[in-house]
Amino acid sequence: MSTWVLIFIALAGGVFVVKMLYVFSVAMSIPVTKGALFVSTSSLRIKTFLDAVPMKADDSFIDIGCGDGRVVRAAHRRYQVRSLGLEINPLAYLKARVLSFGIKGVRIRWKDFRKVDISEANVIFCYLFPDVMKNVAEKLETELVSGARVVSCNFPLPGWRPKKVLRPASSRHGDPIYIYQFPEACVRARL
Ligand SMILES: C[S@@+](CC[C@H](N)C(=O)[O-])C[C@H]1O[C@@H](n2cnc3c(N)ncnc32)[C@H](O)[C@@H]1O
Repeated sequence: MSTWVLIFIALAGGVFVVKMLYVFSVAMSIPVTKGALFVSTSSLRIKTFLDAVPMKADDSFIDIGCGDGRVVRAAHRRYQVRSLGLEINPLAYLKARVLSFGIKGVRIRWKDFRKVDISEANVIFCYLFPDVMKNVAEKLETELVSGARVVSCNFPLPGWRPKKVLRPASSRHGDPIYIYQFPEACVRARL
């Protein structure tokens, strides 16, 4: 067998293994994520929300489904905030850990955010899926500190009124980014 054939088989095998790992990690986490796949937010969308939500170095930031951790690292890089990423998909978690290795002030945990007390955070980011947004809203209403800000990519928090809705120019279909201020967002929405 020629060397080229062997190289091709090795590459194809590698791609197959990575795909299988991806399918396996999605299948493992889908009962929890209810369909929120590991899809990353673009750098333009991250910059847009960071411009709109200034933070201080003593703020605490959580991305409750952090994927590869890019949002967590970007918030820390821009504002030096303590940043935590929670992730349930094992492959995404591993990627986030590797990419965040050695960055002081950035933590990544393999956790279902529903089981984590997020009251330490005063800026919360999420890019999840419509089916879970009602539960997310209920969790935030129970745990958030007054003055906390919430950023939700693409999907609104049911019953909450956004302070701002950003639509970065280049996003496909003008996907919105909702910015909320707690508790005003809930109080006014219920009047
Ligand atoms: C659409 S991706 C967004 C990733 C990242 N936040 C970003 O914007 O680039 C949603 C991520 O949330 C994770 N996720 C969904 N439900 C979760 C849960 N209950 N606990 C932790 N992570 C969750 C998924 O595994 C997925 O990686």
